[in-house]
Amino acid sequence: MEPHPPLMVALPCPSTPAAKRPGPSFCRIVFVGLACLLTMPNRSLSASAPSVAVVPLPAEIQSAEGRLEITGKFAVAILGARDARLDAAVARALRRWEERTGLVFPRLPSGPYAISGDAKTAALTIEIGAASPQWPRLGEDESYTLDISAGRAVLKAATTVGAQRGLETLLQLLQSDAQGWFVPALSVRDHPRFPWRGLMIDVCRRWQPVEVIKRNLDGMALAKLNVFHFHLSEDQGFRIESKKYPRLQQYGSDGLYFTQDQIREILAYAADRGIRVVPEFDIPGHAQSWVVGYPELASAPGPYVIERNWGVFDPVLDPTKEETYQFLEGFLGEMAALFPDEYFHIGGDENNGVQWSANPRIQAFIKEHNLKDNEGLHAYFNRRVQAILAGHGKKLVGWDEILHPELPKSAAIQSWRGAEGLAAAARAGHPVLLSNGYYIDQLEPASVHYLNDPLPAGAPLSAEERKLVLGGEATMWAEWVSPETIDSRIWPRTAAIAERLWSPSEVADVPDLYRRLDYVSRRLSEAGLRHIAYREPMLLRYAGDRATPETLAALRELIALGKPILCYTRTQLSPRDPQYLALTTLADCMAPDPQPARVFVLAVEDVLLGHAAPATLEPSFASWRSLASRVKAVAQNAGPRAGELSALADQLAEAADCGAEIVARLASSSQGDQAAWYDALKPRLAKAEQPQGYAEIPMIASLRLLAAAAREQGQRGDLTPEAWRAHLQTVAFPKKNP
Ligand code: ACM
Repeated sequence: MEPHPPLMVALPCPSTPAAKRPGPSFCRIVFVGLACLLTMPNRSLSASAPSVAVVPLPAEIQSAEGRLEITGKFAVAILGARDARLDAAVARALRRWEERTGLVFPRLPSGPYAISGDAKTAALTIEIGAASPQWPRLGEDESYTLDISAGRAVLKAATTVGAQRGLETLLQLLQSDAQGWFVPALSVRDHPRFPWRGLMIDVCRRWQPVEVIKRNLDGMALAKLNVFHFHLSEDQGFRIESKKYPRLQQYGSDGLYFTQDQIREILAYAADRGIRVVPEFDIPGHAQSWVVGYPELASAPGPYVIERNWGVFDPVLDPTKEETYQFLEGFLGEMAALFPDEYFHIGGDENNGVQWSANPRIQAFIKEHNLKDNEGLHAYFNRRVQAILAGHGKKLVGWDEILHPELPKSAAIQSWRGAEGLAAAARAGHPVLLSNGYYIDQLEPASVHYLNDPLPAGAPLSAEERKLVLGGEATMWAEWVSPETIDSRIWPRTAAIAERLWSPSEVADVPDLYRRLDYVSRRLSEAGLRHIAYREPMLLRYAGDRATPETLAALRELIALGKPILCYTRTQLSPRDPQYLALTTLADCMAPDPQPARVFVLAVEDVLLGHAAPATLEPSFASWRSLASRVKAVAQNAGPRAGELSALADQLAEAADCGAEIVARLASSSQGDQAAWYDALKPRLAKAEQPQGYAEIPMIASLRLLAAAAREQGQRGDLTPEAWRAHLQTVAFPKKNP
């Protein structure tokens, strides 16, 4: 396998690997080096002084003199229109600040916060033009202004949801110093770049209960995301109660599904946070769980069982039978009445056509109806489903496979296979959403998603077609997440996507994103997300009951230097029936974008660009070596998990040795045979890079670049730092011949 370069930056439109299809046909992820980053437009933001750590960064932010002190006297007034949703949002915000500061804000004798209509006594006034409708809608005005001076903060918005977005900004501005709590004086004019900013959660492959959904809705609100795409049916599980067709959940869910009351609870919770909920029922493929209880819907005789593996499977609804449409009329009608949003997602992806091709009756139907082939039949099915949904007042959304000349233009296309799919759908006149490049389940670094723009400067679209690009969605497919780990796979990286979809396109400074993400990660944690909190209990269980404090300390350090392998590789390595596997490995304790590894990558970049001496890296190697020996000691008592730990420790020690050797070479004037030295080093680095279990050490790619620098330094000539860096990239990561 070709080594991949540092985990920093992707081309603006990286190709996200095909999602559910295991096997060698995945598109390759394209990385470029940090050099590209250094030529990025750097937004000159006076207000983006170190103290401002807001994500997403507002459209306009101007700093001013002074600060607003936050004390126990912090009183809020709501002027203009008032509604219960805004009151509730203010109460949640005040509670969040009380939890951070330990202050107690003014309350009524009966308990609730004293929210008045009197601007004179308030430290924060909120003024909205009109209350938002009960259910959030696409295109609602989410803009707001926030003016903070030493005297007060003034938040204004046309709608409740605009005020909610502004409150989230205000919440992230809170800071403290020796004098106390404060928000800096500044002025914000803010509005989203795209109206559709989503997170999809697959609750099917692995079940995710109500509390997971609710806390992630809180995270979405914090990051100003406004669409929760609820992926409710899959081969591996049917996750919602149907009263009309109860065998769907009775046979298709292992008892793990949302009751309709729970769905209503989630809908209200989301609406309260200005978040639309778009349900997805993936048809006609990805429908194996449907046909466990209703085998007559399938295109081949049953019986069927719930699928326990990951991939693309044959069971597909039979689009030639009127009974299928009668069923869908009943079921989709029931769901259309439950979900208030105008959009309704029908999936439509990865229908492999195997059952259709094998069924002579279905092939005869294709001929009789002049449908040409299976694709034509799929388009026929979509038209029928679209008519059913239109009858219930819904517009359709589907993955990009549903694009077909006969699809009504009102249908939105969600592009997951590539930017070309998005452009093709927009050119055909459809509203479009980008998910390609936002596959957070893959566990790529935040920077990769961050630089993936739904509408990059050079997008081959007319002004009219550009207007059809509604935004995008992060996708949390659930092959490798449990309720315990899922937050750590969503956050904080999804906040980077949220910024891409909210902030102006030129906000693209990766180091500044990471700086702010570290703060927003804490805010997310305070809001109830468990992406940090989950780790310690996981580690305790992993370490076992005999673990000493020293053991735990060593493991904590080790997981901070490792990362989980990409998820599709894990799928390829996984045994049969992975749905049953507990996700409690060392890799599951690791973050996709570990901070210490990122710091090392940046330190290497500084060396490569001549901003720092090679010797500045030596302490890192010393600490890796020391950690490796402590982990080796841990491994001796680690029972069945010793092999994985011992191997990772060996790799870390080898990485440290290689690193020290490279640095010595870089510093030495007597070079010797560089090519022979480099060739001997490469296999050592390759060995140190091998995954152990599902974990790997992400710093090796930087060592490859550093080694290339040692090899090439005699021939550097007068290359500029950037040209030199680009050259090292080609040496360390030569392109494979096609
Ligand atoms: C998908 O990833 N199959 C939409």
